[in-house]
Amino acid sequence: MTKKVILTGDRPTGKLHIGHYIGSLQTRVAMQNSGNYDPYIMIADMQALTDNARDPEKIRRSLLQVALDYLAVGIDPEKSTILVQSQIPALNELTMHYLNLVSVSRLNRNPTVKAEIQQKNFNQSIPAGFLIYPVSQAADITAFKADTVPVGDDQEPMLEQTREIVRSFNSIYKKDVLVEPEGVFPPKGEGRLPGMDGNAKMSKSLGNAIYLADSPDEIQKKVMSMYTDPNHIHIEDPGKIEGNIVFTYLDVFDPDQKKVAELKEQYQAGGLGDVKIKRYLNDVLQAVLEPIRKRREAYAEDPAGVYEILRQGSEKANLVANQTLKEVRAAIGINYFD
Ligand code: TRP
Repeated sequence: MTKKVILTGDRPTGKLHIGHYIGSLQTRVAMQNSGNYDPYIMIADMQALTDNARDPEKIRRSLLQVALDYLAVGIDPEKSTILVQSQIPALNELTMHYLNLVSVSRLNRNPTVKAEIQQKNFNQSIPAGFLIYPVSQAADITAFKADTVPVGDDQEPMLEQTREIVRSFNSIYKKDVLVEPEGVFPPKGEGRLPGMDGNAKMSKSLGNAIYLADSPDEIQKKVMSMYTDPNHIHIEDPGKIEGNIVFTYLDVFDPDQKKVAELKEQYQAGGLGDVKIKRYLNDVLQAVLEPIRKRREAYAEDPAGVYEILRQGSEKANLVANQTLKEVRAAIGINYFD
């Protein structure tokens, strides 16, 4: 059986958190271990630079952190190719060819990019590289002829744009060179872990995240400060489950769902205090995160070894991407010296 090809990745702008773990890392590890896929996992440093050009040190630092997070959760370099976007020159030329197939107004319509422009306060000076990053993402995906792209819901517009580029390219140049990818999205309602403060999104910039690298003390401090039911003042009062983040997290992380159901009943009836459920959640989270942190610490002792994993992954990725670029050049007819 030929394996399906996965391409996915993350921007290295900081450490990854348990929201990333639930939203995508866990799925990637399961897909990797199923043996049905040939996974390429990309650290998208070029994309991260499109809105961080003046702070390259942040990207450089985060590259190692993201690599450690990947290895910590069980992405296995024997089974998955971990690569660094900036080390794959063919991606830049593919991007240039695809840019000719995309209109400026189409770029301006991408809803995820539009939302990011709002949020990042670019005002009048949106970096051109930022506006076109969906096209460079199409290069990332097509360079590996990936058919499967496991990502968060916010990446759907990138897949849509990639498919449009693939169709244009194959129809204009009359060759079936590029492959149309399918997105694999988290099941409805399970994709997004709320922040500790009750905000719908866990994110570094909102300061409401629990990181895979957090120490036991940091985890405990964060759990004890978590948003619950603001009207649950006395232990005897009946408490609310809806929007109560402690229970949202227990739903996601506690393997003992029977116990969670019992706790919910007790909490709603009254007589179960916030400190008690937080202590319980703390135990659950510590158990999930301890093996991840231990593996992370072991890899962190040997940064040179981690860079070597990335170098080898990038080397292998270059072979594949260069082959695709060769086919793209031949399809366009700019392979003059072949
Ligand atoms: N845009 C993705 C994010 O912000 C990262 C990314 C870059 C990516 N290239 C990709 C994801 C290719 C999937 C496929 O998380």
